[in-house]
Amino acid sequence: MPLNRALYQDVREELLLTRQQIAARVRELGEQITRDYAGRELVMIGILKGAVTFFADLMREIDLSLTVDFMAISSYGSATKSSGVVRILKDLDHDIVDRHALVVEDIVDSGLTLSFLKENLLSRGAASIRVAALLDKPDRRKVDLRGDYIGFTIPDAFVVGYGLDYNQRYRNLPDIGVLKPEIYEE
Ligand code: IMP
Ligand code: MG
Repeated sequence: MPLNRALYQDVREELLLTRQQIAARVRELGEQITRDYAGRELVMIGILKGAVTFFADLMREIDLSLTVDFMAISSYGSATKSSGVVRILKDLDHDIVDRHALVVEDIVDSGLTLSFLKENLLSRGAASIRVAALLDKPDRRKVDLRGDYIGFTIPDAFVVGYGLDYNQRYRNLPDIGVLKPEIYEE
């Protein structure tokens, strides 16, 4: 029996991205980042918790000298929609003055979280800030925010797995699928 099948059958409407598709795309992103930052020292900033899986895979595909740091933020809103009011729960451990920062996020949805983060990090004197996001839902954008490295552009559906949660669950599913609407409508 494949891993997690029992859990999937209850929550998943449709498989969107297999672990093989994700791994191949993450490898490509890592190669692109390696080329783009050649000769520069990078700091990868992971946004807890959704980005941890992508972050751990991506860092191993980047062939550069780099350091890592993490931020945890909470965005007020419902379980499936962020409000754009963002609070920092855990800040960076190190300062980023004159550093080249790559923010690593799971998904860009409205774009509100990342536009807040970009502003916030720029105000601390970073030399540059780019965004890597595994997923992008452009149909739901509320602010003009474009990721620099995007894994996959997906339709407007709520997805879980590979780090992405619904009410903190399903992050451990190894691939990405659409959550059955009845799960969050009930
Ligand atoms: P934004 O501020 O609307 O762009 O929201 C970004 C955050 O909302 C992401 O970091 C996720 O935590 C969460 N999010 C948005 N869409 C989804 C989804 O389809 N599944 C799981 N989490 C999502
Ligand atoms: Mg989340």
